[in-house]
Amino acid sequence: MNTTADAIAAIKTKLGRDLCIMGHHYQNDAVMAHCDISGDSLELARRVPRIDAARIVLCGVYFMGESAALLAREGQTVHLPEPDADCLMSAMIPIRLARRVLEQLALGGRDIVPLAYANTSLAVKALTGEYGGAVCTSANAETMLAWAFQQGKGVIFMPDKNLGHNIANRLGISENERHVLRIDGRGLIEPASQPLDRKLLLWPGACSIHARFRPEFVERARAGYPGCRIAAHPECRQEVIALCDAAGSTSFLIKEAARVAESDSGGTLVIGTEENLVRRLAKRHRGKCSIFPLSHAICPEMSKVTEEKLLAVLEGIVGRGGEPLEIPENFFEPARLSLTRMLEVCGK
Ligand code: 13P
Ligand code: SF4
Repeated sequence: MNTTADAIAAIKTKLGRDLCIMGHHYQNDAVMAHCDISGDSLELARRVPRIDAARIVLCGVYFMGESAALLAREGQTVHLPEPDADCLMSAMIPIRLARRVLEQLALGGRDIVPLAYANTSLAVKALTGEYGGAVCTSANAETMLAWAFQQGKGVIFMPDKNLGHNIANRLGISENERHVLRIDGRGLIEPASQPLDRKLLLWPGACSIHARFRPEFVERARAGYPGCRIAAHPECRQEVIALCDAAGSTSFLIKEAARVAESDSGGTLVIGTEENLVRRLAKRHRGKCSIFPLSHAICPEMSKVTEEKLLAVLEGIVGRGGEPLEIPENFFEPARLSLTRMLEVCGK
C-alpha cells in the first residue's frame, strides 16, 4: 500500500469540491496521478477562472502559482506544495534590470511594447502591464507577437531569446530585424553601440533544460531511428528547431504524439522536451508507436514537487488553513492586466 497516495486520496475525499489540484505536464507521474486538472501553462491559466473550489493546489513552478493566484476569484486561495520550485529562466530577468532596460529604451526614444513569456516573475508581469504589454505562453506566442506588432511599436520579447527567434521565424521576421540585447547587471551595455531600432528586441535569457539540445542530437536521432519523426518545444535553439519535423508547445507535443499513434501505427516519434512528459507519452501510446526523448532533460525545479510535499500542503490546508500564496497589492492590477490581455486576445 502506498500510504502517501492513500493519505492524499483521503484528504481529497474529505475536501471534495472545495479542493482542486492542478498539475503541469512536467510533473512526475506520482504527483500527476492526484491532479484534477493537468495542462501546459496556457491551459492551467485558462482553467483557473472556471474553477469553483475554494482551494487550488498548483503542482508546478512558482510563476504558475502566481498566475493562478492572479486569475483566482475573490476568496479562493492558491497553495504550492513547493514554493521554492522556481523556473530557472524566470530568474534570468530580475525586475530591477527589466525596469532599467525599458527605461533606457524609452530614454533613447524607442517606443516599445513588452511581450513577457509566462515564465517570468509577478513583478515582471506587472511591469509589462504597466507598459501596455501582455503575457504569452509557448502555445500562443505567435498570436501574441503578432498582436504586439499590431500596437504599432517595436517589441521587446522577454526573457526567452530562443522562443523569440523561433516565433519570429514563423512570422517571417528576418534575423536582421531582430537584436538580442547585450545586458549586464546595470542595464544595456553601451546602448549607442547596439541596434536598438530593430523591430524585435530579445532579452538574452533561455531555458537551460531546452537549450541543452544540440543540432547533433537531432542528427543522432535520425541515424538511430531511421524514418523517425522529430518534434521539439520552441524553447530549443533555432538551429535545433530548423532540423526538426515539427515544433510546438507542450500541448502541441501531446497532440502530436496522439496523432502519430493514431495515424502511423508502428512509427517512431522523438520528442525534444522535458523527459517526464516524454516518458508519460511513451507509456500512453505503447503498442501503437514508439516515443523516445531527444536527450536526457529533467527540469530540476519541476522535480522539487513530490507526492510527499503535496500531502504536506494538503495536511496544512485541512489542519491550520495552510499558507496561501500572497500577491502584493501593488503588483496585482498591472500583472493581472498583462495576463487577462493574453486571455482576451486568444479568446480565453
Ligand atoms: P508550456 O507553456 O509549454 O507549458 O511550457 C512551460 C515551460 O516551462 C516549458 O519549459
Ligand atoms: Fe523553466 Fe525550463 Fe523548467 Fe520550463 S523546463 S520550468 S522553462 S527551467
